[in-house]
Amino acid sequence: MKSNEDVTDQLAALEKMARQLEPSSSQRQTIAQQAFGYIDEFIIALPDTPGYKEKPCDALKALTIDDHGKPFDQLLHLLRDEVDQSGINSAAGTHMGYIPAGGLWTSAVGDLLAAAANRYVGIFYSSPGAVRIENQLIHWLCTVMGYPATAHGNLSSGGSMASLIAIQTAREAHRIDSTNVRRAVVYFTAQAHHCLHKALHITGLHEAQQRIIPMNERYQMDVGALAETLRQDKDNGLMPFLVIGTAGTTDTGAIDPLNAIADLCEQHHAWFHVDAAYGGFFKLLGDMAVKFKGIERSDSLVMDPHKSMFLPYGTGVVLVKDAQTLLRTYAHQAAYMQDAYGFDEISPSDCSPELSRHFRGLRMWLPLHLHGVDAFKANLQEKLLLCRYFHEAVKEMGFETGPDPDLSITLFRYPSKDSNTFNQQLLKALHADGRCFFSSTQINGQVWIRCAVLSFRTHRQEIDLALGMVKENLEKIKALPGSKAR
Ligand SMILES: Cc1ncc(COP(=O)(O)O)c(C=O)c1O
Repeated sequence: MKSNEDVTDQLAALEKMARQLEPSSSQRQTIAQQAFGYIDEFIIALPDTPGYKEKPCDALKALTIDDHGKPFDQLLHLLRDEVDQSGINSAAGTHMGYIPAGGLWTSAVGDLLAAAANRYVGIFYSSPGAVRIENQLIHWLCTVMGYPATAHGNLSSGGSMASLIAIQTAREAHRIDSTNVRRAVVYFTAQAHHCLHKALHITGLHEAQQRIIPMNERYQMDVGALAETLRQDKDNGLMPFLVIGTAGTTDTGAIDPLNAIADLCEQHHAWFHVDAAYGGFFKLLGDMAVKFKGIERSDSLVMDPHKSMFLPYGTGVVLVKDAQTLLRTYAHQAAYMQDAYGFDEISPSDCSPELSRHFRGLRMWLPLHLHGVDAFKANLQEKLLLCRYFHEAVKEMGFETGPDPDLSITLFRYPSKDSNTFNQQLLKALHADGRCFFSSTQINGQVWIRCAVLSFRTHRQEIDLALGMVKENLEKIKALPGSKAR
């Protein structure tokens, strides 16, 4: 057995080692200075960094995790060369593929503050101030979307998790279980985001009947077809349960006719869920109200601050009109948590599958308060106009385009003898060029290149750069021997 003296010596030695995890004040200052200097250089260089760069990242493979630490600047260099300069530059205004994210610096500061204080934000009792901030954000969003005071929601990691929370809540509300799931029917269009298919699968609703409702020429749900399908299902003894509409589809930015869908859901007592992950924040703009009419009549909706509120990746929101249904789905108790119960304020862990959770709301609260809502509205309005400007300009270059954009996404393809091959060739050339990044999609077997304008760093200069780049590469591909251009 060890003597007390031995134990004391051993503890002293361990403490010395253990305390390495807490850098001294001057070490913290040095690291912070290097980190903030690095971030500053990164942001200053953004206008001249490519939107896309292929790079093998070999040095990362060679880096081993050792028993002893490494200098901060060595790690920072690796981050710069191997992570921040490879693949899609999602912080750049030249990122116009998929749904571009933001990366507000003020939000990153919020993350740092939240992580340093490490509040436990699963339950109100543990961190009343932080939970109150999150609940205030949720209530502000409810007001923006026209939801009543009885609504509540949750800040999730993104749109997919938010959708999962909503779909399980719908299932709970309609008491779908093994006895009735095969009679339950879910309705959506082919443009519904695949995270909803995942959510249906995870919640066991893939066993329900699924109806893919046709769309009009603007890729919006055909409400006439929805009405007819609902009627037929009812006549056949099935149970219309869930209609999923989209306010801003990923492919084309289309907004489904939400008000007409809400009418049908009311008539058939079906749960109405709206995926507004991409489009939701555009409702902040007064002149968009007509397009979003009816969203306030939905039972649940999802929006993504890490898309159209320009936050860095990591924040989605689900709102549910009847908070009690959300709570019934997610509020569970445990003996060891007994001290946390009995407070008036709703806890985040009662509204999602998560328990332990960081202070997710600070990254949204800080920029909203620092900049004010008008700065966000100006960005959104600018993106709508930039997208229309791009849409018209590519048309003038001879491209075929998708429908006039509802929001800030447009499609274009060059008409040719073998359009799919030609446009794939063009996309490849655009990726190799890399000054701006576009992604592509296929609708009804046709390849389209997409331009999605959503980064808060995309302004007229980036769009002009993109247009110039499209034009140059188009000429290059057309000039190739054997080109499929018309
Ligand atoms: C319309 C729509 N819904 C849901 C999602 C999924 O969101 P997330 O990627 O945040 O999980 C996306 C992602 O692009 C989307 O565009």
